Amino acid sequence: MNAARDVKIAYFDNSGRDDKRRWWQDCLTKRLGPCQLVPLEDSAALACEYALVWYPPQGRLAQLKDLKLIVSLGQGVDHLMADKSVPDGPSIVRLVDPDMSHALSQWVILNVLDYLRDGRYYRENAQQKRFEARDQRQTKNLPIAVYGMGAIGLVIAQRLAALGFDVSGWSRSARHFPEPIKSAHGKARFDALLASCEIHICILPLTPSTTDLFDAAAFAHMKKGAYFINGGRGKQVVEADLLTAIRAGHLDGACLDVFAEEPLPPQHPFWQEPAITIWPHVAAQTNPDTAADQVAAAISAAATGAPLSNLVDKSRGY
Ligand code: GLV
Repeated sequence: MNAARDVKIAYFDNSGRDDKRRWWQDCLTKRLGPCQLVPLEDSAALACEYALVWYPPQGRLAQLKDLKLIVSLGQGVDHLMADKSVPDGPSIVRLVDPDMSHALSQWVILNVLDYLRDGRYYRENAQQKRFEARDQRQTKNLPIAVYGMGAIGLVIAQRLAALGFDVSGWSRSARHFPEPIKSAHGKARFDALLASCEIHICILPLTPSTTDLFDAAAFAHMKKGAYFINGGRGKQVVEADLLTAIRAGHLDGACLDVFAEEPLPPQHPFWQEPAITIWPHVAAQTNPDTAADQVAAAISAAATGAPLSNLVDKSRGY
């Protein structure tokens, strides 16, 4: 890029931490030449052509009249789709960072194995100084479904398959995944996976068609004793229905990183349910050291009018 003047990028990450902004600024300066990451709320942001944002205040991006490119600071773009004032003009790009797929797959594996190896039971026993074994569950070929087979879902499915699980990947449209992962798509196969798998992992993007996807009917389709893991978005789950299915003893429990309202409010009943493991949306945190390559490439491409990678299809919602 033309290094004669600083590249100005409007920045917002909803953490309130200035060190993160400076970290991004250093990473992008290394790749693009001098960059200034201008806090989105500053008046100087109004003249920026590029924005790097995570859950920006609704209405703010619409005020940046020269905006050419919006880069989501995460893989999800539901925070941008939900703001109807975001203008159509600027392209939207989402992060697809192998480092995040790696982190999210580790989080899933951690929780699948913790569940199957009775982590909760042994932690509770340890609190009581009880040294008691439970019969080890046989997990060879245990059927697991991964819903959402984009870049992250595929890595999760492959790593679970390498651990000896019988993995099916469900995607919105027909796709074929490499052996031994079984490929599934469409409503009929969705219901079939709900009925046949022991562990269900949601990693879907939030769109109108995935909102409330896991409702009372979906949980009723699941086998008694099934386990649900959500690393997608909270609004894909009807939370009251999940709680009912767990309290009725139909589901064994759930592990959730995402919630309809975040931070999860202190009065939310999930906090009181020991069969629900709560993580504060940390399954895969964006790492500027790795993700900056993609952000810099997107800014360079937008500056020269070159094609953009990981461009969001606004009509599809991701
Ligand atoms: C995290 O939730 C992301 O979308 O990157």
